[in-house]
Amino acid sequence: MSSYSPIGPVVGVVGAGQLARMTQQPAIALGVELRVLANTADESAARVIVDTRIGDYRDLGDLRAFAKGCDAITFDHEHVPTEHISALVADGFSVHPGAEALVHAQDKAVMRERLTAIGAPCPAWARVSGVEDVTSFAEAHGWPVVLKAIRGGYDGRGVWVCRSVADAEAAFAAGVPLMAEAFVPFERELAVLVARSPHGQGVSYPVVETVQQDGICVEVLAPAPGLDPEEAAQAQRIALQVADELGVTGLLAVEMFDTGHGLVVNELAMRPHNSGHWTIEGARTSQFEQHLRAVLDLPLGSPAMTAPVVVMANLLGGDDPDLFKRYEHVMAHDPGVKVHFYGKQVRPGRKIGHVTALGDDLDAVRARARHAAVYLTTGEYT
Ligand SMILES: Nc1ncnc2c1ncn2[C@@H]1O[C@H](COP(=O)(O)OP(=O)(O)O)[C@@H](O)[C@H]1O
Ligand SMILES: [Mg+2]
Repeated sequence: MSSYSPIGPVVGVVGAGQLARMTQQPAIALGVELRVLANTADESAARVIVDTRIGDYRDLGDLRAFAKGCDAITFDHEHVPTEHISALVADGFSVHPGAEALVHAQDKAVMRERLTAIGAPCPAWARVSGVEDVTSFAEAHGWPVVLKAIRGGYDGRGVWVCRSVADAEAAFAAGVPLMAEAFVPFERELAVLVARSPHGQGVSYPVVETVQQDGICVEVLAPAPGLDPEEAAQAQRIALQVADELGVTGLLAVEMFDTGHGLVVNELAMRPHNSGHWTIEGARTSQFEQHLRAVLDLPLGSPAMTAPVVVMANLLGGDDPDLFKRYEHVMAHDPGVKVHFYGKQVRPGRKIGHVTALGDDLDAVRARARHAAVYLTTGEYT
């Protein structure tokens, strides 16, 4: 047994995906001891974090054993049962976000109810229990109707854009509780990342544009190009207000639609978010450091950008599992591009890493990020 006892605070992260993995880097600099709860020793964060515990996040006993000795507990994903989080808080653990906030990132219907109540802009929506409900929703709001799994969806899995009763029937065939939303004919998707600490300090990163393909985020442009400063300020105000009203502690990402004549909130995430990976090199304080500061109730860091334009491109797995052999070209071609690899098995369409480029000119920076991402994943030269 080692006689070492941690000098800095211990932060426990439930879940061991790439978000926990990327949190290790600022934890090193801050002298924060990171502990993760992994399902298996092979997971992305488990491979880089010394204090990895293996257990089941759905099991309260495992969560309690994991939490013992942690100064703060937080999450890499949104799947921990709400009642288990409440039980940990009742035990006296410092859990961020708490159950009452996190439920709004777990349950899209609860989120819509609350956002509607606090006056945040939302599409028309309703809980639906069968195709008849969808038909009456469509009579009031028109087709298409967007059906969504109330819980458990991600990367567009659990979202069905329905243009007919037959489409709605196909969505119900998934056998999970659904809600309906009016289809928002948006021009583009935006995201606002804010942090809020338990003592109530809040900061907002610049509003970004997220580019999605088949429901998966492929590219993030910071700041959102050509966004009217008034609208940007409004987006940040909405996100900070949501964080405050919901009592969020830690990070909150608010996904929004830019309709060309206003903003509509899409959904919430309460953890580091794909729309904030650019902050590792592109902001004075990365989202991962910011989340650690917030859950430890430390003063928050500057969200200011380190360059006028930052572009992040996701690496989505292709057919060839050997990405590393292509590092040489990417690094030689553009010494300014930064590559992040999550140590995950390559599977087609899976997010396995990302690249970031910084500069002054959007088109040039975007082309650099794209070149690196496409070459790394496919070997094609763009
Ligand atoms: N009401 C809507 N109108 C139009 N498109 C939508 C609507 N809701 C979701 N989408 C599209 O589906 C994507 C995924 O939906 P979202 O609720 O964010 O689910 P996920 O949890 O999978 O990210 C969104 O990024 C957007 O492109
Ligand atoms: Mg989403």
